[in-house]
Amino acid sequence: MKYDFDKIIDRKGTGCAKWDNLKEVFGREDILPLWVADMDFEVPKEVKEAIVKRAQHGIYGYTYRSQSFYESIISWESKRHGLNIDKGWLTFTPGVVSALSTAVLAFTEPSDSIIIQTPVYPPFYSVIRDNGRKIVENPLKEENGHYYMDFDDLEKKINDKVKMFILCSPHNPVGRVWSKEELNRLCEICIKNNILLVCDEIHSDIVYKGFRHIPIASLNEKVAQNSITCTAPSKTFNVAGLSCSAIIIPNENIRNKFNKQLDAIHIGSSNVFGLTALEACYTYGEEWLNELLIYLEANRDFVLNFIQNEMPEVKVSKPEGTYLMWLDFRKIEKDGKKLNDLMVDKAKVGMNNGINFGSKGEGFMRLNIACPRSLLEEGLNRIKTAIK
Ligand SMILES: Cc1ncc(COP(=O)(O)O)c(C=O)c1O
Repeated sequence: MKYDFDKIIDRKGTGCAKWDNLKEVFGREDILPLWVADMDFEVPKEVKEAIVKRAQHGIYGYTYRSQSFYESIISWESKRHGLNIDKGWLTFTPGVVSALSTAVLAFTEPSDSIIIQTPVYPPFYSVIRDNGRKIVENPLKEENGHYYMDFDDLEKKINDKVKMFILCSPHNPVGRVWSKEELNRLCEICIKNNILLVCDEIHSDIVYKGFRHIPIASLNEKVAQNSITCTAPSKTFNVAGLSCSAIIIPNENIRNKFNKQLDAIHIGSSNVFGLTALEACYTYGEEWLNELLIYLEANRDFVLNFIQNEMPEVKVSKPEGTYLMWLDFRKIEKDGKKLNDLMVDKAKVGMNNGINFGSKGEGFMRLNIACPRSLLEEGLNRIKTAIK
């Protein structure tokens, strides 16, 4: 391997949410943090060099998006995911969550309902609830640690008030990479019921062998015209702190309405370094990403083996994508608060408490495996000792 993902890089003292904020988040400092979804790996060297070069210029005024910036996104989506997009379909937000919130404000009214598939990334709840809209949960079905969409439940939950569906594809936290059949069926139901599809594809580049991410806008023209797709290099290349997301909206009316909402809250302009990083990631990052995927897949398999051999009481879903693993501790502790105390105060490992992903997440923890394997091993040993 050309890149050394085993290398431990000290992130403390960089204002890093994952490592510098432990007392505030977990109530103590002696925690091994395996939580918030960023990686403990350095970005590709070309990305760092591009940022340093831009920084050296010394003037960081208002900026505009160059042709090569657009081309880097268009070429990445086409090459990696087979999605052909026009430059004019693209619009930009600081983050994917701000895009979700913008969509909620632009396309729904306070009395409307929005469907999400739970358990799910906590801001899916907050962008609906905090904007005064109603959350309708369409829980995923679980069989032997594998999660499926529940279409019967979905059809029962749809009524005149449901105006939007926010899909997580690939899914955080259960790690599903949705199949074409699943996506087609879901989209058919949404189109039949005039429900706008907002698809969060932030994890689309982190997909393991045997699986393929299918962009929702690539399914067919009808789906594309009823969709908003949120993408970003932030998870893929570990540049979340640079705030630059690309939103794909093929339908002109939907795009204009989305942009009008963005203009109303004035969050459409980008950060100089975010633009620089995005273009460098998509232009030069492919080789690095291919090696990262090999490393992450080995981390995933390491966790699966460790759990099977050393703590079989813990059930785990095998992720098809994402660097997140959804661990079921219910045989050990069903109560979410007590489970959290066990992990924090006894294991001294900081994971995301499943309870924050919806009521079905109680008794679960979300583990972030995007770190050097030695840290992952240390974390798993700590958990094993605590539960023994
Ligand atoms: C599904 C999903 N969407 C969005 C985000 C965050 O997006 P942003 O930081 O661009 O708002 C995350 C981060 O973990 C995520 O998992």
